[in-house]
Amino acid sequence: MIHIAPSILSADFLRLGEQVQEAENAGVDRVQVDVMDGRFVPNITFGSSTLRALRPITKLQLEAHLMVEPPEDFIERIAHGGADTIIVHQEATPHLHRCVQHIHSLGKKAGVALTPSTPAAMLTEILYDLQLVLVMTVNPGFGGQEFIAETLLKVRQVRELIRARDMNCEVEVDGGINIETAPRCIEAGADVLVAGTAVFDHKDGVAAAVRELLAVCGKIA
Ligand code: DX5
Repeated sequence: MIHIAPSILSADFLRLGEQVQEAENAGVDRVQVDVMDGRFVPNITFGSSTLRALRPITKLQLEAHLMVEPPEDFIERIAHGGADTIIVHQEATPHLHRCVQHIHSLGKKAGVALTPSTPAAMLTEILYDLQLVLVMTVNPGFGGQEFIAETLLKVRQVRELIRARDMNCEVEVDGGINIETAPRCIEAGADVLVAGTAVFDHKDGVAAAVRELLAVCGKIA
């Protein structure tokens, strides 16, 4: 099963709730909220208040992608804000295992994100505890960037690590995902596609964009 996770980073912030509901009606099961602190990445975006605003208006799973350091300082308030899944960057803390434990203690699903230069092997000691691995296919911080094709090998490696452990862990890709790059990611082993620009900047609107992505993925999955 392939999942599309629209990233609200590229949404029209004056119509955020409306666009999230459009995505929900189009059949996605989640949206991704990119939390950026201007320190781990050179950009500042949303916090727990955006999650609190979205929580009551949608039944979608809310995935919080924490591009912050240290993530330890944010996990609690992001969880209480309404996130269902909290994704922390392997590069942002020396205490990744403790972060994942903390996320689980709050009743949330835990994911770990890897920037393009971080090898899949950095997951081996934490993978058992994860519900999701996010392979960044761009350098984190901004939407609308060019897909980094070299990251496809890492997608394969992560999928193989999961298969070898007979685990049920999602492989998510994020950055430059569109109708051209999506099938390549699926073929490499991804089953969750984060898409911001391809969804919210689509000429025919959110629903058409989601349908187009699912159709293209359906040919591969
Ligand atoms: C990068 C962000 C983006 C965003 C999606 O830090 O995480 O990848 O979600 O961006 P697009 O789909 O516009 O490349």
